[in-house]
Amino acid sequence: MTAPLHSDSLVFFGATGDLAYKQIFPALQALVRRGILNGPIVGIARSAWTDEQLRARARESIEHHGTLDRAAFDRLSSMLKFVQLDYAKADGFDVLRRALGAAVQPLHYLAIPPSAFAAVLGGLRSSGCSEHARVALEKPFGRDLASARALDRMLHEVLPESAIFRIDHYLGKEPVLNLLYFRFTNRLLEEVLDRDSVNSVQITMAESFGVQGRGAFYEETGAIRDVVQNHMLQMTAILAMDPPVGDRDPEAIRDEKARVLKAIAPLDPQHVVRGQFRGYRDERGVARDSTVETFAAARLHIDSWRWAGVPFLLRTGKCLPAHAIEVRVQFKRPPRDIFHEGASPPEYFRFRVGPDVTALAVGMHVKRPGEAMAGQEVELLVSEDEAGEMLPYERLLGDAMRGDAGLFGREDAIEEQWRIVDPVLDMPTPPYPYEPGTWGPVEADRLVAEVPGGWQRPIDPRK
Ligand code: BG6
Repeated sequence: MTAPLHSDSLVFFGATGDLAYKQIFPALQALVRRGILNGPIVGIARSAWTDEQLRARARESIEHHGTLDRAAFDRLSSMLKFVQLDYAKADGFDVLRRALGAAVQPLHYLAIPPSAFAAVLGGLRSSGCSEHARVALEKPFGRDLASARALDRMLHEVLPESAIFRIDHYLGKEPVLNLLYFRFTNRLLEEVLDRDSVNSVQITMAESFGVQGRGAFYEETGAIRDVVQNHMLQMTAILAMDPPVGDRDPEAIRDEKARVLKAIAPLDPQHVVRGQFRGYRDERGVARDSTVETFAAARLHIDSWRWAGVPFLLRTGKCLPAHAIEVRVQFKRPPRDIFHEGASPPEYFRFRVGPDVTALAVGMHVKRPGEAMAGQEVELLVSEDEAGEMLPYERLLGDAMRGDAGLFGREDAIEEQWRIVDPVLDMPTPPYPYEPGTWGPVEADRLVAEVPGGWQRPIDPRK
């Protein structure tokens, strides 16, 4: 089998947007530094910008969200071009074709709202820009199961599956990859990761900030579409999947993730609590009577031999007291409580996925020095700064340019993810209000009524 060819140029739609500013320009600089990006880089947006404006924006982005590397940035700058495009007008795409010059195998990266996908794909096709091209798309892939399937059909009218890269940037995060690696290279956790030993699993994605000017985007999305359907269910799948068959085979890993997602029943609205932080309705672009959730807590079950009966508790929100992503496995107590420690918190394993710091920790009980056979809780902690790690978009865009789909969402898994959340999208009941800086509405506590210790707050390893 011959290796797929390397893309010779990058076109990124949504160049003036928030994602480009926060994540893409620093990743482009890193890709240029590593020699992966050598051809033209064309930034596209509807606004009338110049090449110079795009370069200035790139510099500002890297200064704020990365570290400027003079030599790499100068090279990046010299490759950057800007093309203004009205996505609805097919003739504008001819300008793009010309901007690509001699490049014949572009990667088109669509960091734009899904409502613009159809027009862009149509324009790429009619202008010939989709020939020998790859397309990387930013989530959300559709708004529900039906629209996700429609999007997939549309994509396949323009491109073969091998040319489609569905981005969930959590799959490119070092600690998420480490969770997968850790599970299948050590026996320690694997031996006890099942219904016999585990009491419950909690996955927290807490953000201490609000919608940061993205009110209009968020109104279309809400927490369930924005992060539960994708990042949180992917983390659930990585924690709960069975070992893949075959060595280092990315498809085998994707098969197992899809398989465990298939075993998750659609979310029961009784097992979901939605919240909205006070002040959200005053944000720009947000309706005064918006019922969009900025917080979601959910309890789900995996109907497999390994996991039957173990609650998986997912909690995410904006304006919470901490910015922390954590996967936590809480174990059952030993079968007999010989030293009467029954009231203390159970053992756990937790995996801190960021931001800024990643950690792996095991919480357990040890004897307190002294006469009594009484204990104390301790935590064994390994922690690392994220500094020096590869940026998720650096990894993912590099992989897409190489044609390696292993770290991208696969359509079958994405459809399972929509199937799981479908019953709780656009719920008619208004979300419960919560004060910014709190852990969301108290109503979420009923989801953990039988879980020892209730909701667990992520622990910052640096404190
Ligand atoms: C994005 C969501 O996919 O992920 C944002 O749209 C969220 O709302 C972001 O803030 C979180 O990503 P990270 O990498 O900062 O944890």
